[in-house]
Amino acid sequence: MAGKIPEETIQQIKQSLDITEVIGDYVQLKKQGRNFFGLCPFHGENSPSFSVSPDKQIYHCFGCGAGGNVFSFLTEIENISFQEAVGKLAERAGIAADVSIPAESRSQPVSKEHDQMMKAHELLAKFYHHLLLNTAEGQEALDYLEKRGFSKNDLETFQIGWSLPNWDFTAKFLQKRGFTLEWMEKAGLIIRKEEDGNYFDRFRGRIMFPLHDEKGKVVAFSGRALHEEKPKYLNSPETPVFNKSRLLYNFHRARPAIRKQHGAVLFEGFADVIAAAGAGVEAGIATMGTSLTDAHIQQIKRTADQVIICYDGDSAGIQAAFRASGLLEGSGCDVKVALIPDKMDPDDYIKKHGAEKFRNNIIGTAMTLMAFKMEYYKQGKNLQDEAQKLHYIEEVVAEVAKLKKAVERDYYLRQIADQFSLSLDALKQQEKQLFFKERKKQPPNERTFQPASAPQMQKRLYPAFQTAERRLIAHMLKDADTAYKVKELLSGETFNLDEHQAIFTYLLGFYEGGNMPDSSAFISFLPNANLCRLVSDIEMMMVSEVVNDEEVHDYIKEIFKYRKILEIKAKKQRQVTAEKAKDYQTAAQIAMEIVKLKKELR
Ligand code: GTP
Ligand code: MN
Repeated sequence: MAGKIPEETIQQIKQSLDITEVIGDYVQLKKQGRNFFGLCPFHGENSPSFSVSPDKQIYHCFGCGAGGNVFSFLTEIENISFQEAVGKLAERAGIAADVSIPAESRSQPVSKEHDQMMKAHELLAKFYHHLLLNTAEGQEALDYLEKRGFSKNDLETFQIGWSLPNWDFTAKFLQKRGFTLEWMEKAGLIIRKEEDGNYFDRFRGRIMFPLHDEKGKVVAFSGRALHEEKPKYLNSPETPVFNKSRLLYNFHRARPAIRKQHGAVLFEGFADVIAAAGAGVEAGIATMGTSLTDAHIQQIKRTADQVIICYDGDSAGIQAAFRASGLLEGSGCDVKVALIPDKMDPDDYIKKHGAEKFRNNIIGTAMTLMAFKMEYYKQGKNLQDEAQKLHYIEEVVAEVAKLKKAVERDYYLRQIADQFSLSLDALKQQEKQLFFKERKKQPPNERTFQPASAPQMQKRLYPAFQTAERRLIAHMLKDADTAYKVKELLSGETFNLDEHQAIFTYLLGFYEGGNMPDSSAFISFLPNANLCRLVSDIEMMMVSEVVNDEEVHDYIKEIFKYRKILEIKAKKQRQVTAEKAKDYQTAAQIAMEIVKLKKELR
């Protein structure tokens, strides 16, 4: 990784650029009042809900929730790293920034060689596609694909093709069109024979799946055997334009859908991606038969907050899903797992049960990660056996202890207690010990992270406490004194929403670091895209300029009030339980407590 870019450089770049101009290169903006509006480049829409504030130097989309400053805009739209975005903007601003960019993420210098490799892939993808659809030679493959359930539309959309079973058809094809064969060998399309130095085709008699990079350019192929030949899938080797451990199949096509629904669906095989897209699940992606790498995760995280893992239903698939879920969760993604029954893969399932069942019963009912883990640890255990059962409970409680929200921990502990007729208190105690051990291991700023909430729609109605918290944040963003005052008034209590509390904590740190109020700078300071989006959302929606003490007090009151409401709810639950257990004394006691709390509310 490159070293940290000096804060001054970032500041300097920001001050020399106007966000409306930078964004204006990508989006047509119209001025309306103090802000500019346009069609959001991050999700498909017909009426503009994307706004840019020149005063605050931030942007926000009320439709999909995208938001941030000029750096996050560029990373998002160009799908590049932060370093690269700083480099590009520095260049634009005419500022010398020593931004060293890791070699693998640097955009390739457009050499003639590189250019030819890209052109050859594009041309061949078209040609293979033509061979499949329109020639007698492609008929057998076409029949096979149709029998498998690929529609004409699928074949078009994914540009599926057929390579002829000849030894040197592609080599000759490329030579005739003036491509340098030496470079074509480097691109993995042909192979040089040792004996006579002649070239022959890598892909012969295979169903051709072009692999696109995130910009939608064909950079490699995967060829599937038509019969039982080995290997089943033959991939292009690593080349200057293809890096297997980075490429996500279908990412460029899935991107708008992923962004719209804030989530991606991760499959094991790319045949599953195609089948799922045919079944209406457009946000599908897959690795190229390798396990998930850090590069994959980074790419996913730039667009998605949530990932649904939908791997094969056999035990290898479940094992792989467990590994992938751990990696994704560790990087801050909200993970769900969609399990396919009867050891099928998603493609088989869709063929057998149809698109609607796949969407509703598989993707639509994906399990939370915790629920999946509870299933996962059951594998290979006989829960009738006392020792194995205890081992299982230990494993599961250890997982519960890792959950960040208290309500979630409570929920799953209750479930375990019910399932095994255990005392909830004992489970809680065990969990607490593990919980504190776990927290000590984590760096402090990770404790506050929460997965993103649903997109914040324009003029959306929030509960009173949430509006109060948002207003407070808006005011604290404008004025450090307000932030300190809120800290005092909360006197150790926290905001009700974890995201709000996280923003508050970071904001205090931001001010304590000697920074002046500046939303755009604060956004750079935040470690997490969800929080950036939330800040830009709050900033764009809040209007009033000054705040008086009375207002601040009222907002704080709302925050405390909500606490009480939650407390009352919890007590009511306990009251019902006590009544069911015919423990009328406890029930009456709780009823009195509720009355007291209700009085305090007024
Ligand atoms: P179909 O048999 O065509 O339905 O394929 P599948 O999607 O069921 O594939 P499978 O579950 O066997 O494998 C999942 C992924 O692993 C594939 O999409 C490939 O990327 C990769 N893969 C499978 N077989 C091979 C192989 O023989 N060689 C290589 N390099 N990759 C493979
Ligand atoms: Mn399959």
